[in-house]
Amino acid sequence: MPEWKGCLASVDVNVALLGYGTVGSSVSRMLAESGSEIERATGHRLRVVRALVQNLDKERAFPAADGVLTTDFAAVRDDPTIDVVAEVMGGVSPAGDYVRELLRAGKPVVSANKQLVAREGAELFATASAAGVQLRFEASVCAAIPVVKVLRESLVATNVHRILGIVNGTTNFILSEMERGAEYAEALAAAQELGYAEADPTDDVEGVDAAAKMSILATVAFGSRVTPDQVDTRGITEVTPSHIAAAAELGMVVRLVGIATLSGEEVDVRVQPAFVERSHPLAAVDGPFNAVMLQGDAIREITLEGPGAGGIETASAVVADLVSVVGTAGTGFLQNDACWRELRRMDAATWRSPFYVHLDVADEPGVLAHAASRLAAHDVSVARLVQRLEEGRASLNLVLHDVAFGDVRAALAEIAAFPEVLDRPFIAPVIA
Ligand code: NAP
Ligand code: HSE
Repeated sequence: MPEWKGCLASVDVNVALLGYGTVGSSVSRMLAESGSEIERATGHRLRVVRALVQNLDKERAFPAADGVLTTDFAAVRDDPTIDVVAEVMGGVSPAGDYVRELLRAGKPVVSANKQLVAREGAELFATASAAGVQLRFEASVCAAIPVVKVLRESLVATNVHRILGIVNGTTNFILSEMERGAEYAEALAAAQELGYAEADPTDDVEGVDAAAKMSILATVAFGSRVTPDQVDTRGITEVTPSHIAAAAELGMVVRLVGIATLSGEEVDVRVQPAFVERSHPLAAVDGPFNAVMLQGDAIREITLEGPGAGGIETASAVVADLVSVVGTAGTGFLQNDACWRELRRMDAATWRSPFYVHLDVADEPGVLAHAASRLAAHDVSVARLVQRLEEGRASLNLVLHDVAFGDVRAALAEIAAFPEVLDRPFIAPVIA
């Protein structure tokens, strides 16, 4: 019998990067350091031959080889030897124009840019489809967790109807640190230092980053376009140490949670601080980690958890997409838009959940009864109540039974108008 000589001769694949920052330099490092493993597994040698940057003189975490860095986009677009491009520069413009030009030039693109994919996905996929080249975007959601691939490929025949996700590493890191006693500002500074935060961290803390990711997940899972402006979004800037302490007292933790719901022909997607029961899998998601729970008829529930931010973690997904592009070239599959139908947006008032409500009220007779009467008037039922007293004030922490959001919102609007209510009521869904 002839001796087995291993695989066929390896093929060289020239990769270009748009961006050589936290993620771009990590992609370069991973391709350089894990090149032989990738070659052994796939038979392809991926090399970074060009990388677009703004400033050629900047110090890089993993320096590029001589001649690789360029400030000229045309040097990427017009180079016929470049086989595939990773867009890791961020921003919607000029990144969007660059990606479209590359696709039109017949170059497959993988992107880590959630804002671009979420806002301009329809147009980008139309361009990719027309050009017959792939556009992949695994790294745009939850960094290292392969959730897009699982939804688009492994669960393609499954009716996923609910997604619960911790999809922003920075805010999860900040909330975890605050639980351990850190101040908000110091935790945010640490998240920036560790490379988790966006260039403008407002996107993280105001929920904008999570909204883009949830809109991508909902679009892929439900097959209907959801754009970030259709996501009800609240960030963590309104979460105070007293909310975190109240959660602990109730046996819960505070997390920024995205919830996407498909109900009949209607869809609802939201991002907000949520009170998560300690026994729930999402409560154990700590630091910059992310987790996504997918619920569907056949699968019941699948949870994916892993690093949700960071250069090398995101590079893992970018490199996986590059390898997939190479491995599935010409299959005509992933340049197709995941959308195939138009679903209506659910009226947010009908969206149901148990809720946590925090009220700061004057410590006076009748205040609690008055608040309870407005809740009862809207059919809102209280499951638990914890009261803390401080000099003339009472901090009321209520857990409500499952209720329509519109009813609890209406009751709180009336309660907020009482003269005895000292601060704006805080409301968060409870994940049990
Ligand atoms: P970054 O460190 O700021 O790097 C951005 C890179 O793009 C830099 O090399 C920059 O050049 C280059 N660049 C930006 N605008 C450019 C322009 N107009 N022309 C040419 N080059 C330009 O950002 P990052 O953290 O790597 O993030 C990149 C993308 O990955 C973003 O979409 C982000 O949302 C996404 N992402 C990041 C993470 C993470 O944990 N960091 C995780 C998942 C996804 P200079 O270096 O010369 O300034
Ligand atoms: N800023 C993002 C986060 C990076 O903190 O999750 C990963 O997309």
